[in-house]
Amino acid sequence: MTDRITLRKPDDWHLHVRDGAMLKASLPFTARNFGRAIIMPNLLPPVMTVKDAIGYRERIERALPDGSTFEPLMTCYLHDLTDPDEVEAGFRNGVFTAVKLYPANATTNSAAGVTDYAKIRPVLARMEKIGIPLLMHGEEVDPEVDVFDREAVWIERRLRPWAKDFPGLKFVLEHISSKIGVDYVRSAAPQVGATITPYHLTHNRTDWLGWGNRPYLYCMPVIKTEADRLALVEAATSGDACFFLGTDSAPHPVARKLAVVGSAGLFNSPVAIEQYTRVFADADALDKLEAFTSLNGPRHYGLQPNTATITLERSPWTVPEQIDIDGPDERALIYRGGEQIEWRVVS
Ligand code: DOR
Ligand code: ZN
Repeated sequence: MTDRITLRKPDDWHLHVRDGAMLKASLPFTARNFGRAIIMPNLLPPVMTVKDAIGYRERIERALPDGSTFEPLMTCYLHDLTDPDEVEAGFRNGVFTAVKLYPANATTNSAAGVTDYAKIRPVLARMEKIGIPLLMHGEEVDPEVDVFDREAVWIERRLRPWAKDFPGLKFVLEHISSKIGVDYVRSAAPQVGATITPYHLTHNRTDWLGWGNRPYLYCMPVIKTEADRLALVEAATSGDACFFLGTDSAPHPVARKLAVVGSAGLFNSPVAIEQYTRVFADADALDKLEAFTSLNGPRHYGLQPNTATITLERSPWTVPEQIDIDGPDERALIYRGGEQIEWRVVS
């Protein structure tokens, strides 16, 4: 049994670090283990312009611990009126790494997202031309569509046609959550890639709802069946280049998670690389871990992998339950807080 593993430094291809006090409190957990992260633009108001992204990037850089080499990769929040010239300007001057599509009202802070898919076609055409990837919250929010089927319907209604209409455009189907998602991404690779979260690899919907409602397992896309979870584990641990790490770590103040209408999102960056390692160890696939954490993502984005490394050891520790956020009584609960985690980052 392997008890120690060294990996090229991972990147997080899907991360929410928020802003202000929450940014300051949550960012160090990512900066200590990851070389780069794709920063989600769903602030209030969202990051829609080059100017917004430059300002946000500066705030992130100021929130980094001293001496950190972590690099935030910024994204542009797509909406019905996004100007293709703005996307191109941001890409050419190195501000935007990707464009993020939220269907309006699909999840946290997505009210300003896309409502009319015909309107964004000129942006997709320009993105195809210049070579900037489209990241998708791939869920169809039509009220007629069951919440457990949103990903499957998105693929059929939106992604499959776009992949044909824009053959030069690279896509990332974010946080895939279903066997249907896994099968589609494999069939459409290398044009389409997908990120997978640590919690979709770990839990099924019975864990979430079967023994009392656990608000801290509530996220979008919702956690699905055991068959879906097993398909995701098989995909991640296969080493296939189209699947890569994206934590979707998404801190919320406790009161928002526990409200009558609770917010979707799990704050998992404090345990993410450790939890992925556990999943791969349990599947007897530690030899495939580095491809998933550190190689496949950069390849999909046309970037070089990191050269530094991190080392993990099997050495259990107990996860703190929460982090305090500056401000009156504010805190965010940590995914798996209070539980024992098997692996630890030692250098
Ligand atoms: O559960 C989620 N939370 N899914 C998302 O797509 C957004 C995220 C957030 O921002 O909290
Ligand atoms: Zn997200």
